[in-house]
Amino acid sequence: NKVTLIGAPTDIGAGARGASMGPEALRVANIGPILEGHGLEVKDRGNLSGPANPWLPPTDGYRHLPEVAAWNRLVHDAVYEELSDGRMPILLGGDHCLGLGSISAVARHCRDTGKKLRVLWLDAHADFNTSALTPSGNIHGMPVACLCGFGPRELIEIGGQVPAISPKWVRQIGIRSVDPGEKRFVHEQGLEVFDMRYIDEMGMRHAMELALATLDANTHLHVSFDVDFLDPEIAPGVGTTVPGGPTYREAQLCMEMIADTGRMGSLDVVELNPALDVRNKTAQVAVDLIESLFGKSTLMRPKV
Ligand code: ARG
Ligand code: MN
Ligand code: MN
Ligand code: MN
Repeated sequence: NKVTLIGAPTDIGAGARGASMGPEALRVANIGPILEGHGLEVKDRGNLSGPANPWLPPTDGYRHLPEVAAWNRLVHDAVYEELSDGRMPILLGGDHCLGLGSISAVARHCRDTGKKLRVLWLDAHADFNTSALTPSGNIHGMPVACLCGFGPRELIEIGGQVPAISPKWVRQIGIRSVDPGEKRFVHEQGLEVFDMRYIDEMGMRHAMELALATLDANTHLHVSFDVDFLDPEIAPGVGTTVPGGPTYREAQLCMEMIADTGRMGSLDVVELNPALDVRNKTAQVAVDLIESLFGKSTLMRPKV
């Protein structure tokens, strides 16, 4: 029950400025003390310090590739160090390009320790673009592809092995915005996606039962929580809102079902953009959901 907060204040991979203020907004929403209230030992290692955002157009299909690589190396090293110390890293982003550094460190830790890895990607977007497919050049739309080995060397090699993960290890939940070329690529690579249509038809409970079905006692579960997963009604403070996301209740159930597995070993909280928020309410709802992820429940519950 030892967790470490790692701030990565950057919007280097995003299409809007402001996610660089995410770590502080989560601290202002009391993420540390609230987790301590759930019996966790919390260490806050403060913020990583990487390159500024030069705000340039894409070069060869990528915006800010050298800076994205630099930030992800910093995130990789910090996440890997905390895992090696037996602590659970919580990455406070920052935009979602940082999932690359975080998950490549988690994958390396799983190789070191013989653990099976599952990645739960909670997002409105599949983030499975490549430089050839991207409509924007924004690298926050590419981390899943890079982790699976599709991307530039300086991004895919960060965790020391290419590919860092297999598409078979990924479960995506809440997806409702996928670019045309990206859609074909998601299909070709066989990503397991529980999109909003699936959730509408089958319910969040069923989606999560399937997404969590292959966990066992030896599984490390990584949760990558892009705050734009949530419906913009409850979470307006993100750069790429997409209507029609999970409601507050659906999101709570999703988090509670993850907590019930007892397998979560690392977490990213990314894409929170305080410049677009309303009185920090998106940070508050994110912290509220993170509490559920760490086992907050209304009543005493039988051990599963
Ligand atoms: N698919 C779009 C793109 O590649 C949006 C990606 C949004 N990603 C995110 N992590 N918010 O530009
Ligand atoms: Mn471990
Ligand atoms: Mn994302
Ligand atoms: Mn997203």
